[in-house]
Amino acid sequence: MLEELIVYGKRKLQGEVYVSGAKNAAVAMIPAAILSNDICYIENLPYIDDVISLSDTLNEMGVSCEFVDRHTLKIDSRNMNNFCATYEAVKKIRASYYLLGALLGRYKKAEVAFPGGCNFGTRPIDQHIKGFTALGADVVVEHGMIKARADKLVGTKIYLDVVSVGATINIMLAAVLAEGTTIIENAAKEPHVVDTANFLNSMGAKVKGAGTDVIRIVGVKELSGANYMIIPDQIEAGTYMIAGAITGGDVTVHNLIPKHMESISAKLLEMGVDLDVGDDYIRVIAKDRLKAVNVKTLPYPGFPTDLQPQMSALLSVADGTSIITEGVWENRFQYIDELKRLGADIKVEGRVAVIKGMKSLSGAQVCATDLRAGAGLVLAALAAEGKTTITNLQYIDRGYEEIEKKLNAMGAEIVRVKK
Ligand code: UD1
Repeated sequence: MLEELIVYGKRKLQGEVYVSGAKNAAVAMIPAAILSNDICYIENLPYIDDVISLSDTLNEMGVSCEFVDRHTLKIDSRNMNNFCATYEAVKKIRASYYLLGALLGRYKKAEVAFPGGCNFGTRPIDQHIKGFTALGADVVVEHGMIKARADKLVGTKIYLDVVSVGATINIMLAAVLAEGTTIIENAAKEPHVVDTANFLNSMGAKVKGAGTDVIRIVGVKELSGANYMIIPDQIEAGTYMIAGAITGGDVTVHNLIPKHMESISAKLLEMGVDLDVGDDYIRVIAKDRLKAVNVKTLPYPGFPTDLQPQMSALLSVADGTSIITEGVWENRFQYIDELKRLGADIKVEGRVAVIKGMKSLSGAQVCATDLRAGAGLVLAALAAEGKTTITNLQYIDRGYEEIEKKLNAMGAEIVRVKK
């Protein structure tokens, strides 16, 4: 059933919100669990469509994957019998590519359909393939399937030409059960890379250096089951911090890791927001109209590209002109046309958006073009006069658990309706 969100804007948000577990860690760890021929419990999972789809996919592959409660998956791969993930199974999830590394690690063979997920331009996986090949696999792409096979995987040194979260994690998954030592150079340092490495280590893997740009993996013969709790979602936390800022509100975002939020906190402070940073919360107090700032998205610890649309929304009501430079993806400004429907004044030239801050936005009908763009539109709608209708919620639901409930609990007025 198609649904849409109706947002009545101009409500100041006040109150508390609790951040769920990290989506991008979850979508790596669920496939990673099949590297163990035993039972893994993953706790603090966000209850979102990407997690549910991955769990369904594993079930189709002979893994017993069940929710023990809303946020905990029990993954029992002792009777797994399949190394192939079809297009039907993976079309909705970009991160289904992690099945490649995990299946290759476990079976030395994998067949996975080209991933779906968010479309913001070309999303190559050449660095993943380069890594698998260096470990000794033959990889071919035919009829929309990526097929990888190896007699054995042997550790080696792999230099990534671009800093890629996906390639870093995927190579770790393939390498933990390989013979000898694998070294990934120019590795991504995102919190979910570290969290996935910690999960693998809790299963008995030997991964060192995650969080730096050199990761060293000493292969082990087998992995055991594990009980693991996922870190909080940096992007969801940032989204709610920006929600506080864009409504001139007073919002405490609980259950976050302040260190992960530094690039966002720095920008909000520069804009004139007051922050009270605790051990596991940040209170965001925004009274006046905020100042324009320039932002460049970069791999961690830089400003995350996945908060770029939310930041565009905030800057479109700031005082002055801001420049956002997208430093990760080639084509991540498609949603700007939707933001313009709400009255934003933005010009895009290649990877640069020039945003002239308006005193106010005004409600309109808009369409989420991808997951984070959808979140950006929700935030813009909170700041807009009148009523905004947001369609294409399937994107937002891929990555945010109960976004309207969390925002409404702080005074927003958002209704989900069936079309
Ligand atoms: C992950 C996140 C996504 C986020 C992105 C960057 C997940 C499930 N998704 O995506 O939300 O926006 O990190 O923080 O964790 N590249 C190549 N060749 C490759 C792989 C990547 O050229 O083989 C390029 C991409 O085109 C892009 C850049 O590297 O320009 C970063 O991509 P990558 O970090 O791999 O993104 P994902 O892991 O797909």
